[in-house]
Amino acid sequence: MNKTRLCVMISALVLSTLAFAQDSVKPDDAIEYRQGLMTVIGWNFGPLGAMVKGKRSFDATEFARHAERIAAISDSVIEGFPKGSDKGSSERTAAKADIWNHWDDFQAKANDFHTQARLLADIAKANDEAKNKEQFKKVAETCKACHDKYKQKM
Ligand code: HEC
Repeated sequence: MNKTRLCVMISALVLSTLAFAQDSVKPDDAIEYRQGLMTVIGWNFGPLGAMVKGKRSFDATEFARHAERIAAISDSVIEGFPKGSDKGSSERTAAKADIWNHWDDFQAKANDFHTQARLLADIAKANDEAKNKEQFKKVAETCKACHDKYKQKM
């Protein structure tokens, strides 16, 4: 294979990878991805809430572990909402069409969540129960701010 041909092939490969990343995600796949992501977030957020509300005894190590998991995936939310994924063909979605009509605001809400979740994971390393609780509430507010506006009841 000559060099020019190799170059052409590599460029084509790179371009098709980019195209896949941006455009050709199937709505059903995006819906499954974001619901899965939200399930993982909720799974880890539950025990934190139980500890904050005193329904479960406070365990600093466990708290930090769950907080870190949430923080680690908190910047992946936006990827789950590509244009055109307001409806699926076999998947049902609770995402409101307003997400794409107010994209900047939606993105800002996703960023707030990421910022507060990262802070929670950092604060949790210090094992200060009062500070953990305070920051937990700030994260919970970012979930609520987005859900109230952009998630419908199913
Ligand atoms: C930027 C917006 C946004 C933020 C921030 C956000 N969510 Fe969501 N969440 C959504 C949307 C939109 C849906 C509906 C997704 C769908 O059905 O396609 C959803 C769905 C869910 C679901 C249901 C998943 C399923 O299986 O259908 C859970 C649980 C959830 N979110 C938990 C949380 C928790 C806990 C937080 C905060 C720690 C959070 N979310 C933060 C927008 C957000």
